[in-house]
Amino acid sequence: MKTYSIAIIAGDGIGPAVIAAAWEVLQGVAKGSGFILNGTMLPWSCAYYQENGAMMPADGIETLRGFDAILLGAVGWPAQVPDAVSLHGLLLPIRRAFDQYANIRPHRLLPGVQGPLKTERFDILCIRENTEGEYAGAGGRIHQGTPHEVAVETAVFTRRGVERILRFGFEQARARRGRLASVTKSNAQKYSMVFWDDITRHLAGEYPDVVVTSYHVDAMAARMVTAPESLDVVVASNLFGDILTDLGAAIQGGLGLAASANINPDRTAPSMFEPVHGSAPDIAHLGIANPIAAIWSSAMMLAHLGETAAADRIMMALAATTMRNIGTVPGKDRTEAVTAAVLSALS
Ligand code: NAD
Ligand code: IPM
Ligand code: MN
Repeated sequence: MKTYSIAIIAGDGIGPAVIAAAWEVLQGVAKGSGFILNGTMLPWSCAYYQENGAMMPADGIETLRGFDAILLGAVGWPAQVPDAVSLHGLLLPIRRAFDQYANIRPHRLLPGVQGPLKTERFDILCIRENTEGEYAGAGGRIHQGTPHEVAVETAVFTRRGVERILRFGFEQARARRGRLASVTKSNAQKYSMVFWDDITRHLAGEYPDVVVTSYHVDAMAARMVTAPESLDVVVASNLFGDILTDLGAAIQGGLGLAASANINPDRTAPSMFEPVHGSAPDIAHLGIANPIAAIWSSAMMLAHLGETAAADRIMMALAATTMRNIGTVPGKDRTEAVTAAVLSALS
């Protein structure tokens, strides 16, 4: 039988709870679907850091390379380990090392979810550049702690990097409703963002069937609230995409409902699937983390692996769950209750 090996990094805070839920659902759907999911739990996290002085072993990336996909909960426990240490020690190096350049984040209301907006009719696919831009990590601090201290952090945009994420966006738009929104801030940032706009315009010639509009990120933030139904595929740089997708999560009912996939479209290395949300220290250990974002992310993993029927089954079970008003309101339902409802909708 077809077997997939999955690396599981549950991580910190609510990560382990939502990943346990997602894994249970994945096992539930695999049963009778003609494939096996073999999970390997990797304890890499802030707790691991405190014991070992690193977020993952020195050969962590090489270990992960052998898997078909990575399922990740959340990384970060800022009370014990600074975020800049934990995220740069685990999550961000994986995205970069495996060239997971397309971070895909769908924003739509699951049935029965009452979003905060007046309209319920939107279906946005945010595509975030995931390997460079504002997250390139180029910079430094000098004269630390003195009045002369200087901190520099340079965004890095390459033609290859910008072109490939825009092409990915154009292809997605072509497969959906044919509209692409390219997000920059080229009125203020006159090198990198004008460069991005130029490449958008240039590529548009190759996709005459796609209607392309360029927006400034501030205007896009407002549009996602006031006219989200006007949007189809939205492509943005690493940082802009990060911010807009928490906004996207908010309009779809909350971070507990927002899924994401870090995709290596060339399939030269494993892709990674994780909810948009973080480790939520404020609710960790209360048993009320919504597992829907993680479960939806695991459906995206199955789709990426080619198991589309099984992915569809998960999405139908999620819809059946939210239609019963379970998992739709933050804090209302316990993690186990939501998971049980999804599992029973699967069978
Ligand atoms: P967060 O996403 O963890 O939490 C923001 C708010 O949303 C909190 O009030 C939280 O309770 C709520 N929330 C998040 N997920 C939820 C869920 N599944 N169910 C119910 N409520 C949920 O963002 P933050 O507070 O800025 O970050 C906390 C930590 O997580 C930090 O260390 C941060 O760096 C890290 N982080 C990690 C990732 C990741 O691993 N991908 C993503 C974002 C933040
Ligand atoms: C996300 C997170 C990460 C990001 C952080 C934790 C580094 O916010 O996946 O959206 O900014 O990419
Ligand atoms: Mn984020």
